[in-house]
Formats: sequence, C-alpha cells, structure tokens
Amino acid sequence: MTEECNDRRPHGEILLTEAQIAGRVGELGAQITADYAGRPPLLVGVLKGAFVFMADLARAIDLDVEVDFMALSSYGRSTETSGVVRILMDLDESVQDRHVVLVEDIVDTGLTLSYLEDHLATAGAASVEVCALLVRQGRQHDASHITYVGFELPPAFVVGYGLDAGEYGRNLPYVAEHTPTHSG
Ligand code: IMP
Ligand code: MG
Repeated sequence: MTEECNDRRPHGEILLTEAQIAGRVGELGAQITADYAGRPPLLVGVLKGAFVFMADLARAIDLDVEVDFMALSSYGRSTETSGVVRILMDLDESVQDRHVVLVEDIVDTGLTLSYLEDHLATAGAASVEVCALLVRQGRQHDASHITYVGFELPPAFVVGYGLDAGEYGRNLPYVAEHTPTHSG
C-alpha cells in the first residue's frame, strides 16, 4: 500500500449533510412504500455510484422488495459523461413483467438514464420508474419523468454518498462539492 492510498484529499463545501440525506431518503422510502403497496418493486441499482443510496433506500421501504444491480461504464473524461454507455454487468434477475424502480445516484444529462430505461423496457419490464438521489438542474431535456427525486443540485460536480471523482470520495457520508484541482 502506498502512502497515496491513505490520502483523504480535500473537497469543497458540504452541500448535503448526513442528516439531510437520511431525512430525505426516509421520505422517498415512505413514498415508494405507499405507491407500490400490493406490488413490491424490483429495485435496480446502477453501480457503482448508487450503492450507498440503494442500501439506505431499500431499508426505508416497508415492502418485500428485491434488489438487483447493473454496472455501467461511460466513456470519456471522469467528470463529463460521453453519452456512450457500455454494460459491464447486466441484471441477474429477469425483469419480465416486473415493476422496476431504477435507483440512480445522480442524473446529469439524463443520457445514462434513457439508455437504461430503453434497456429495461426491451427486457419486458411491466413498468419502469426512476428514483434519483440527485438531479442536476437545467441539464436534462426532460426531467419531468423522474418520479422520485431526492434533491435538485446546482451545476457543481459533487462527491460523497456513493459518488466519486476518479474513484475518490465514494465513502464520504455526506455530499460535498468536488475540488477540480483534485480530480482523478
Ligand atoms: P448522465 O448520463 O449525464 O445523466 O450522467 C450520469 C452519471 O454521471 C451518474 O450516474 C454519475 O456516475 C456521473 N456523474 C454525473 N455528475 C456527477 C457528479 O457530480 N459527481 C459524480 N458523478 C457524477
Ligand atoms: Mg461515476
């Protein structure tokens, strides 16, 4: 292990505290519990970024949910999506006739999301709704179809609560502004 591995690099202002996130995740869980009464959903988390949100959200839902994950990679610079999405790991469970809630860390341009919605619809899902912890303001052509939104976010690139910049910051318990000079 090199010295670099222990380096907790600095980040900017904390935008969402642990308590704020916990409160909002509880509300989203209650909303999903009410909306899916009698038809427990399959939660599909998008790795890696959604892993922390998914863990908390699943426990905030009072239904017998199932969980599954997809891993994607988007080509391009680490802080700007290229829109070209590649599936690194596909679903384990069949989504045929399932009510799917797609769990995303952040929706920026929405390109990743449209790709996934198409993928799940083609795979025969009965319904697909999106639950995003964060939605960046003014970047999507149409954000209105994102059913469950945790927080709207200003243009800043952020790290923490699952989100990374060059793999840095995923285990920070809050969401903070990323310091560009430390981008990976
Ligand atoms: P989109 O396809 O442009 O909506 O990009 C969404 C994906 O880009 C997210 O799932 C994240 O992996 C990544 N992303 C976008 N903005 C941020 C950010 O501020 N911090 C960390 N990752 C981000
Ligand atoms: Mg990422």
